[in-house]
Order: sequence, then C-alpha cells, then structure tokens
Amino acid sequence: NGDIVVLGIETSCDDTAAAVVRSDGEILSQVISSQADLLVKYGGVAPKMAEEAHSQVIDQVVQEALDKAYMTEKDLTAVAVSIGPGLSLCLRVGVQKARRIAGGFNLPIIGIHHMEAHALVARLIEKDLQFPFMALLISGGHNLLILARDLGQYIQLGTTIDDAIGEAYDKSAKWLGLDLSRSGGPAIEELAREGNAKSVSFSIPMRQHKDCNFSYAGLKTQVRLAIESKKIDAKIPISSASYEDRLSRADIAASFQRIAVLHLEERCERAIQWALKMEPSIKHLVVSGGVASNQYVRARLDTVVKKNGLQLVCPPPRLCTDNGNHVIFRRGGL
Ligand code: KG4
Ligand code: ZN
Repeated sequence: NGDIVVLGIETSCDDTAAAVVRSDGEILSQVISSQADLLVKYGGVAPKMAEEAHSQVIDQVVQEALDKAYMTEKDLTAVAVSIGPGLSLCLRVGVQKARRIAGGFNLPIIGIHHMEAHALVARLIEKDLQFPFMALLISGGHNLLILARDLGQYIQLGTTIDDAIGEAYDKSAKWLGLDLSRSGGPAIEELAREGNAKSVSFSIPMRQHKDCNFSYAGLKTQVRLAIESKKIDAKIPISSASYEDRLSRADIAASFQRIAVLHLEERCERAIQWALKMEPSIKHLVVSGGVASNQYVRARLDTVVKKNGLQLVCPPPRLCTDNGNHVIFRRGGL
C-alpha cells in the first residue's frame, strides 16, 4: 500500500533490540532483550559475554518484532542497523543479522549512527520538532551536546573528556552496594530521594573551563573517596544495611546526583547561548539517552531550558534508552 516499513536492529551495547516502524512514524512493534543478569554478574558490560548474549537472542528478538507487527521479511522496505559507536564485537552481531535478512530478501541496508538515532528519535513523539534544534545525549558511554541544523548536519558543541554521566551513576551505584538488576542509574535516583543532597560537598567539574565539555571521572573519584571515608562496605547490600548506614549511602547518592546534574545544567545553559547566536530560530532542546529517563534530571533541565526561552523535549524512557526503532529515523522521510 505504498508505506515504507523498516526493520531496525540495535546491538551496540548490552541490549538486543529490534523494531518495525512505518514511514508515518508509527511503531508497529518493539522488542528489547537486555542483559541485566550479566551486568549484575560482571559489574559492567564485558564485550565477549555481551557478544555471545546478543548472538543467542538476535534471531528470536527479530522474529518476535516481525510477528508482533504481523509482518514477514517480505513486507519490509529496508533493514536499518546501528553501525556505531559501540562495542565492535556487539555491533557485528546486529550487522550480520541485517545482512542475512537483506541478502535473503533483496532489501537495502541502512547503516545508522547510534548517537544520531538517539537525537532524532525525538521526532517520533514531538511532531513540532523542526530543525534547527539542540540535543543533549546522556547515556552510559556518551555525553554529547549537539546543534542539529538539518538531517546529517550536526555541530558538536561539547562532549565528555573522560567518562559519561551514566558511567558515574553506574560506578557510584556499584560502590554504594545498590541492587544493580536494573542498572545503576535508576537505583541511585531512587535512593537519592531518601538523602540530603547538600550533606556531602562535591565540587562541580570543569568550572574553570568556560566551554561546553563534560567530565565525570573526577566526580566519580570524589564519590569513591566519600564512600571510603564513611566506611561504607559495598559487600553489604543496601537491603541489609542498618538505618544509619542506609542514610549515609542515601546522602552520598543525593549529593552526587545534585552535582552531576548541576554540571549538565551549567553546560546546557552555555550551549544554548552559543547555539542561539548561530541559529536564533532554535526552539527545542532534546534530551535523550538512558540518563534522560531520570525524573530529577528532567526537572532540573526543564528549568534551565525554559529560563533560556526554549522548550525541553524528552522522549519517554522506552525511546530514550537503546532500542530498535530509534535506528531508523534518519533518511527517506523517516
Ligand atoms: O542509552 P542507554 O540505554 O545505553 C547507552 O547507550 O549507554 O543508557 C544506559 C545508561 C546507564 O548508565 C544507566 O545507568 C543510565 O543510562 N540510566 C540512568 C537512569 N536510567 C538509566 N541514569 C540515571 N537515572 C536513571 N533513571
Ligand atoms: Zn545508546
């Protein structure tokens, strides 16, 4: 019936994801298989293990995405797949799967830049979103501020010089002995609600650098030192900690989160001012990537963005994290 229907495949990190999306923006299906059990076991993503896990589930994930969309490969117009950045062993599993389908059914393959997809997926939910707009991408591996002038035309305003914010959340959660079955970010966010965000004084990174870059390695170290000085033992899970112990962990979580997010706020504010000089017609800042599902992050950034005359666009969590449908929103009207 003339509709473009694309199968998207994403295997850049620890999630195996596939989705079927139509050119009008309708997500016909979305399937994600995550490696939470491996994360708990190894305390992070181990590339070789992750590759094996992707290989084990990729066929099933893709099949399920097709089934849920009531489609077969014959109904597809193209196959899209993340080609980077990411773990090369893992990316390869997705690319090989895409090649098998494309080869078998004579379909074009569209290679997708993972970070571009994180930025453009916002166009699915915010139909008013027009170029030029700004995007802040915050995940486990990336901290990126961009000015998107048009499809394929991006100016990088800032990036991390060491760790990404999600990495700082994940490590802090591990050192605080939190339950990592859902990844560290949500665990810190939850515990932080019980703590006093001003009780531990951490310094805001990169204050002396008047640019839009980020750094989270130093804050990570500050958290580790605070944990050591309070004699918190990560081997005692938070669920078995005493009341005082739990409270002191919550204080660190809340204080860490306040400073981690203040760093985002300061950089965003400067980036907006820079970007508006180049493109005065900018109306939106898109915040995407796993960390964008954090309610505190959203609320604080919303204030900064409004104060500077823009509107915050935050895709729902299922579209913020790695997923299969975000890989296709690039070309051909999609
Ligand atoms: O975008 P994503 O799913 O994968 C990458 O491309 O990295 O992001 C995963 C990251 C992890 O570091 C995770 O801890 C973080 O996003 N994250 C959060 C929250 N939910 C996920 N960080 C803070 N608060 C959250 N609620
Ligand atoms: Zn991602």
